[in-house]
Amino acid sequence: MPESTSPKPALTQAVRLARKTQSLDILYEIATSLSQPGSLEHLLEDFLDTFIELVDARAASVRLATGDGHTRLIASRGLAPEVVERDRLMPLGRCPCGWAAAEGGLRLQSGTAPCAALIGRPMLERDCTQFVVVPVQYQDHILGVYNLFLDRPLAAMGEDIHDLLLSVGRHLGLAIEKSRLEGEARRLAIMEERSLIGNELHDSLAQSLIGMRMQLKMLSESLARKDFGAAQYEANGLRRAMTQASADLRDLLTNFRLRIDDAGLVQTVANLVERFGRETGIAVFFQNECRALELTPAQEIQVFYIIQEALINIRKHSSARNVRIMLNNEGDLYTVLIEDDGLGMASPDEPMPAEHAGLAIMRERAERLPGQIVIESEPGEGTRIVLIFNAPPAAAPAVAAGR
Ligand SMILES: Nc1ncnc2c1ncn2[C@@H]1O[C@H](COP(=O)(O)OP(=O)(O)OP(=O)(O)O)[C@@H](O)[C@H]1O
Ligand SMILES: [Mg+2]
Repeated sequence: MPESTSPKPALTQAVRLARKTQSLDILYEIATSLSQPGSLEHLLEDFLDTFIELVDARAASVRLATGDGHTRLIASRGLAPEVVERDRLMPLGRCPCGWAAAEGGLRLQSGTAPCAALIGRPMLERDCTQFVVVPVQYQDHILGVYNLFLDRPLAAMGEDIHDLLLSVGRHLGLAIEKSRLEGEARRLAIMEERSLIGNELHDSLAQSLIGMRMQLKMLSESLARKDFGAAQYEANGLRRAMTQASADLRDLLTNFRLRIDDAGLVQTVANLVERFGRETGIAVFFQNECRALELTPAQEIQVFYIIQEALINIRKHSSARNVRIMLNNEGDLYTVLIEDDGLGMASPDEPMPAEHAGLAIMRERAERLPGQIVIESEPGEGTRIVLIFNAPPAAAPAVAAGR
């Protein structure tokens, strides 16, 4: 019979439409509750509260696969604490939850008597009519299941209810995966932050302390020789180094970075070079061939620390007599060269044990610019460190030429 002549199909259509709208409402509310920021625990609690209200369930829970043949109950609403305790960990192959977590598919069970047999006590004070198990899925990967304890059979909620529940399972899976990835990203960010802090400490305070130890050694040698003039000179140097170290520490504590002094990178390097020559007696030649040095403060700090570590290494390891430092740029491509005519080293690219961190930190700093470090060295042939990096001016604020 054609639809227009009978009111019945029209009514069915209206009911269907109402149910579809209700399904969309449910999906919308679930998606909204799952997109709120917060911990996974809060997210699941919000999800269960919203869902229980929407489908009028007596209780609900979420179980996730553990990866070692079990499912773990990670959130629940409407279940007694003793039930939650006994139901916490279940082997995969024992019940509909385990089967759905392993193979997928929505599963129905009338009442919860089989669950009660497994945990050794009733799941609910008064049993429910239907126990529903729905997979929680992210792409093709089943992460676990969620359960609904219903007082009326699922079929009473319309024919598309299965699709709706499966779709909710996918939304939940996406939210769980997102939360896991966010947790991982946070952990990585913390590790990165720690390594940055470690690098800053290595290149500032740790190096100042090494410098002071050397000065102290020279001071006690002068005293042993009873050369009080030299001893006074060393003591003054030591006092200056300590003032510098405590300024570094203050900077580290306030903004956790060493400030390039207001005169800019070139002047700061020039000061470093002057101090290096004075303290070591090594002839050091600094040549700045950059017409305009348009670097961000963060880039200036990286470049400065790389040069500083190269000089400290020359002082500690090279026995060099001459050092040359050169800054150069061709457009956005910058080159920094630090070379010495000292002892050189056999395999500069080999990873070093953790107590020799300087070269590895130099490479990390170069990568952050972003750029790279090339070390050319052979025993007896000196060492040449070349830092090459790209710094388009758009990325840098206007910085005065020559800085
Ligand atoms: N200019 C250089 N001349 C000769 N050898 C060098 C030079 N620079 C580095 N080396 C060698 O490379 C090694 C690694 O240097 P790196 O800076 O990584 O560690 P470190 O200076 O020993 O310790 P840290 O920098 O952690 O205080 C040094 O121990 C040294 O043997
Ligand atoms: Mg070093």
